[in-house]
Amino acid sequence: MGKKGIKIVTIGGGSSYTPEFVEGLIKRYQEVPVRELWLVDIEAGREKLEIVGQLAKRMVEKAELPMQIHLSLNRKEALKDADFVTTQLRVGLLDARIKDERIPLKHGMIGQETNGAGGLFKALRTIPVLLDITKDIQELCPKAWLINFTNPAGMVTEALLKYSDHNKVVGVCNVPINMKFSIASLLNEEPDDVHISFGGLNHMLYGLDVHVKGTSRMKEVMELMSHTDTQLTMQNIIPLPWEENFLQALQAIPSPYHRYYYKTEEMLKKELAEYQQGKTRAEVVKEMENELFELYKDPDLNIKPPQLANRGGAYYSDSACNLISSIYTDKGDIQTLNVKNNGSITSLPADAVVEVNCVVTGHGPIPLSIGPLPTPIQGLVSQIKSFELTAVEAAVTGSYQQALLALCINPLVTDDIKAKIILDEMLEAHKEYLPQFLNRNQKNS
Ligand code: G6P
Repeated sequence: MGKKGIKIVTIGGGSSYTPEFVEGLIKRYQEVPVRELWLVDIEAGREKLEIVGQLAKRMVEKAELPMQIHLSLNRKEALKDADFVTTQLRVGLLDARIKDERIPLKHGMIGQETNGAGGLFKALRTIPVLLDITKDIQELCPKAWLINFTNPAGMVTEALLKYSDHNKVVGVCNVPINMKFSIASLLNEEPDDVHISFGGLNHMLYGLDVHVKGTSRMKEVMELMSHTDTQLTMQNIIPLPWEENFLQALQAIPSPYHRYYYKTEEMLKKELAEYQQGKTRAEVVKEMENELFELYKDPDLNIKPPQLANRGGAYYSDSACNLISSIYTDKGDIQTLNVKNNGSITSLPADAVVEVNCVVTGHGPIPLSIGPLPTPIQGLVSQIKSFELTAVEAAVTGSYQQALLALCINPLVTDDIKAKIILDEMLEAHKEYLPQFLNRNQKNS
């Protein structure tokens, strides 16, 4: 890394989330001096890149920092000699997400961006693109860390660590930091004083214990969370309350996403109502994005607008920038990241990707030891890991059977015959973005 600051390349730079990331970099400039930030997108994202890129420039100018912002549609040109590459892209844009959510719902199953059938299809579209990016990284900036926020972050990280030659890859999500902030506020403590032992998978994460100044406050958290007015959630998840006795018995803090698994029926009912009104989360987000980009166009705007906090990805820049900062400064602090298990959770395969607390040093994150997961949560986590491994296999090989198998072993897909119907419909709907399944599609036609 050069003495005069670092070079960061953000692929999917035209995302509406970019001001969040830029704000995080500005806040930490003294700790991590960014010399160049390259925002990269594809032709279809040209207009958004231009709008958000100009806002990024105004933000840096307001902060009076010597951080150069470059906008580019040429990934290879941008990647040359990067120190960090961040990925936040969406293959097929929001229209693909709308299909991921609406098609399963049409068949009476949960339709969600990263879970169930929607999550599988996001993985099938995204993994080959990310694998291509790692090839470019190997060629143009082999020493760079790849920090992936592209969903489904767990499966993408799993695929990259298994199938690419680049091993400096870390998956990042904002769920752990959101849970930490919510629990700190429940306990009326400062977030910095709250230490949560996290363990599980991306969007399948549990808090296994909570310590404040050396004392476990787990029982209190479970007690507080049982009350209907103190539910942990995120903007993109319907905040249905937990059954009090269930939580007390579980003695593990579920993530907001666990509602899809423990409250499937009720979540489905709510989602179906949204589906019928043309208001699935993806459709709502599309409207929000249009409004955000209208705001971003304002030449007088030079900060991240508060409306961005209505998106589920709030605080993602804290997770991402904290990671960059700790690697750059060899800090040795603890962050919750998607990394190769390496024995951290002994009840999951050592080579699988897990989301766990890690010590972050200049040579990357080192996962802390958890041991086996408690019996009541082990089953679901194992089942999701089996789904993820099968989904990754399908994404890489283009195997129809593996894709069908992935769907059938996912707890949110509740019927094998319907699974096949959903699979065929989604393969057709997304065929433009699934070249690995092309032969199968040709056979079908
Ligand atoms: C949460 C998840 C992110 C996801 C986001 C979606 O924050 O952790 O992985 O991208 O929600 O939010 P959206 O506003 O797009 O529905």
